Amino acid sequence: MTKQTIRDVEWAGKRALVRVDFNVPQDDAGNVTDDTRIRAALPTIRYLLEHGANGVVLMSHLGRPKGKVNPKYSMRPVVERLFELLPEAHEVRKTEAITGAAAEAAASVLRPGMVLMLENTRFDPREEKNDPAMAAELARLGDVFVNDAFGAAHRANVSTEGVAHHLPAVAGFLLEKELAYIGGALEQPQRPFVTIIGGAKISDKINVIDNLLGKVDALLIGGGMANTFLLAEGKQLGDSLVEPESVEIARNLLAKAKNAGVRLLLPSDALIADAFSADAQTKVVAVDAIPAGWRMLDIGPETAKAYSAEVVAAKLVIWNGPMGVFELEPFAAGTRAIAQAMADAVDAGATTIVGGGDSVAAVEQAGLAARMSHVSTGGGASLELLEGKVLPGVAALAEK
Ligand code: 3PG
Repeated sequence: MTKQTIRDVEWAGKRALVRVDFNVPQDDAGNVTDDTRIRAALPTIRYLLEHGANGVVLMSHLGRPKGKVNPKYSMRPVVERLFELLPEAHEVRKTEAITGAAAEAAASVLRPGMVLMLENTRFDPREEKNDPAMAAELARLGDVFVNDAFGAAHRANVSTEGVAHHLPAVAGFLLEKELAYIGGALEQPQRPFVTIIGGAKISDKINVIDNLLGKVDALLIGGGMANTFLLAEGKQLGDSLVEPESVEIARNLLAKAKNAGVRLLLPSDALIADAFSADAQTKVVAVDAIPAGWRMLDIGPETAKAYSAEVVAAKLVIWNGPMGVFELEPFAAGTRAIAQAMADAVDAGATTIVGGGDSVAAVEQAGLAARMSHVSTGGGASLELLEGKVLPGVAALAEK
C-alpha cells in the first residue's frame, strides 16, 4: 500500500471528512437489514475519535436516487444504526444538508468525540458528475479527507474522488485492508493460486478472467457463464442459458489459458432441471448429455468434488460469483461446496478472499463468512480490482 492512511495524520484539532460506503440493504419500512458495511467502517471512525479529531463528518451515497431528494434513500435509518453501534461517540447527528451554509454550520459546531452524518450525497445531481464546484464546497466541511469507502472507490464521484483534490487525502482502515488483501493477492500471490469465477454471464467477467489468466495457477469456472465455455467446446446444452455472442471470446480465453499454462477447469457434470423453479424435476448428468427442455442450474457433484480438491490444495484462493442458482435451495449445493472448501483451505493455512455481492451472500447463507480470511465489502469495486484497474477513489489519495 503506497498511499497515506489515517495513521499518517496528526489528528488533534483537525476535522475529518470521511467518505464511507453506507449503501446498505433496507426492508420496505426502511430498516437496515444488513449492517456489515456500517460495522466495517467503525475501526476508522473509532480511531479518529480516539485520536482527538475535532469531529468526524461522514458522507455516503445510498441507492441510486439520480440527483433528486427522495426520502426513500435518506441516511436517517443508517444514522440510527450507527448510533447504536457507536455508543462511545458523545453525539451522532444527522443533517438534511450535503454542502452549503447549513452543512457548514452543522460541521463547525463539532467537537472531539462528535460525529455528523451528511444526507445522501447522490441527492445532489453534481455528485455523480464529479462537479468541481461541489468538491470545493464539500471540502469546506473538514481539514483532512479520509476515504474508507472501498465499495464505492471505483466511482469517480465528488465524494469519492473530486474532494480529494481540495484537501490532504488519506485512506481509512477498511480501504487499506481491502487493498492489502485483494491488491496484495494479485501482486504477490502465494502459490498455488486458484480462483473460482462464477455468475450468470461471461460478458460481465471477461476482463476479470483475462487479467487473472496472467497470474493464477488454476481458474475454475462455474455458474451460467460456464455454459458459454462449454458451448465453445462444442457441447450441446439443452435449454441452458448461453451467450452465443460471447462464444468467440470464450474460445479466445480458453486458448489464452492454454498458452499461459493455466489450468482452466470447466464443469464435467451438471445438475439440470426441467424448469427454472425450486419445484422443478432435477437430475445429474454429464455436461455433454443435457437433453432439450432441460437446463443446467448448478454444477454437479463430481465437479463440486474436483473444484473443492483444487481449493483445499491451494495457498491462495479468490472467489467471485456463485456456481449455480444458489438462491433456490435445490441448486445451492455446488456453491455451498465451494464455500466449505474455502473454509477448509483456511484451516489448512491458505488465504481465502471472497469478493462480489453474490458470493458474499452465498458464504453468509452457508454460515461460513467468519471462516474466510477476507470477505470484501465491495461488489463492483472488487471486480474492477480483479480486472487490474486502478480505482479512481484510491488514485486520488496522497502517496506515502
Ligand atoms: C455498491 O453497492 O456496489 C457500491 O455502494 C456502489 O454503488 P453503485 O453501484 O450504485 O455506484
